[in-house]
Amino acid sequence: MLTGTMIEIGGLMIVAAASLQVVIVLRSALSNSPRMAHAGGEAGAGSGANVDASGRSVDWREVEPLSWLGKRKFRVAMRNPENANGDICSFYLVPLDGRPIPSYRPGQFLTFEVPDPEAGHPTMRCYSLSDSPTERGYYRISIRKMFAPPGAPEGTPPGLSSSYFHDRVHEGDIVQAYAPAGDFYLDQSSDRPVVLIAGGVGLTPMLSMLNWLVATRSDREVWFFYGARNKADHAMYEHFVQIRKNCPNVRMFIAYNEPDESCTLGVDYNVDGFISIDLLQSVLTASNYEFYVCGPPPMMTAIRSGLAEWGVPEEDVKHEAFQSPVPMSDATPPRQAETKDDRVYRIEFTRSDRVIEWTNDNDTLLEFAEANGVRVRCSCRAGNCGTCLTALHDGSVEYIRPPSREYEAGTCLPCIARPSSDMVIDL
Ligand SMILES: Cc1cc2nc3c(=O)[nH]c(=O)nc-3n(C[C@H](O)[C@H](O)[C@H](O)COP(=O)(O)OP(=O)(O)OC[C@H]3O[C@@H](n4cnc5c(N)ncnc54)[C@H](O)[C@@H]3O)c2cc1C
Ligand code: FES
Repeated sequence: MLTGTMIEIGGLMIVAAASLQVVIVLRSALSNSPRMAHAGGEAGAGSGANVDASGRSVDWREVEPLSWLGKRKFRVAMRNPENANGDICSFYLVPLDGRPIPSYRPGQFLTFEVPDPEAGHPTMRCYSLSDSPTERGYYRISIRKMFAPPGAPEGTPPGLSSSYFHDRVHEGDIVQAYAPAGDFYLDQSSDRPVVLIAGGVGLTPMLSMLNWLVATRSDREVWFFYGARNKADHAMYEHFVQIRKNCPNVRMFIAYNEPDESCTLGVDYNVDGFISIDLLQSVLTASNYEFYVCGPPPMMTAIRSGLAEWGVPEEDVKHEAFQSPVPMSDATPPRQAETKDDRVYRIEFTRSDRVIEWTNDNDTLLEFAEANGVRVRCSCRAGNCGTCLTALHDGSVEYIRPPSREYEAGTCLPCIARPSSDMVIDL
């Protein structure tokens, strides 16, 4: 008990110091970044109305995130290591053009292009925005450096993009990002009790949701479950201490599956092992919550099937998996070279009421559609987020790389697909 208090007092001081540093560095970096005005709205519990970080009332249902087209340049205003292991680092990004940055839904991500020297062209990766969208002067992403997995053959390289960010992207550097996107986000208009479940670096979108709930002084009942290996792995430790201390409506459960002598049960963490459906059932009084889950595949599978067995309706369980696009080397190579000149297909875009000939001038259906003024909803442009999933009424496609997520028959992912016949597509 005494130790806990001391740690919390210590935590307070550390957080205060860290926050001061953030403020000092970011203040100068952000001074030229005008803040966006919030939409107004009536305050009142359960109406989707709330207050923003500065206490102004906001109806979040009316705050439509804006966007930008293509890539936008951001300066890295600050890097901040987020755990004792040093393998999770946050990057605070401010727009190079100094113009306002659009808001986003808590849980959405940015998409980046990073150099891939071996492929000879940039590759795309998504990173969730890890802070509350009420922070209007910067975007924050938090990236775990991926090392070669245990048991991988010698010489297996570490993760391309996460290594690039950790090793090559310094304060003051410029990175390019596509606008915030993604369908995995907190329902900001709901006042139902909410359960946020995070495993490993799957913490990032859940933290954005949590921070938004805290920043808007939501009185929703919040249950937060976070699984890490141990204290050294635990990201943003002091931030959690503060939330536990200051937010009575947030109940927090931290699970360590590899606690060591530096970890004190009841102080640093309160669950030995993994986050499991048994744990959820033992602390939640009922199953009628909104659930949001993001973490490693085994955790996601176990939690999702456990919730289904518990009778939680599918629509009450939102989830996101962090996956890289499948490397080109594992893909069926596109037959672009051998067929470059003679493949002409008739592509019918039903929603746009257009029929256009595919003549191999573009690499993907997405690029082809965009080049012809047909809008496609997309975000990662690399086959890993599912945003561009579109019904294919007739015809077939081939993939330039295997999609990294499941999709139903009769649909396709235009961002990585090319036609392999005449086709009729729902765009
Ligand atoms: C919507 C979304 C949001 C995300 N948000 C975040 C986030 O907030 N934070 C975060 O850290 N990540 C996030 N991710 C994951 C992120 O996009 C990347 O997938 C992650 O950083 C790994 O990418 P990488 O390029 O570093 O690794 P990759 O190069 O894709 O490699 C992945 C793994 O494969 C191994 N590997 C490489 N080559 C081989 C080989 N030949 N044989 C065997 N193994 C090999 C690497 O060592 C590494 O362990 C998100 C993903 C999605 C889809
Ligand atoms: S845009 Fe992400 S899968 Fe196509």
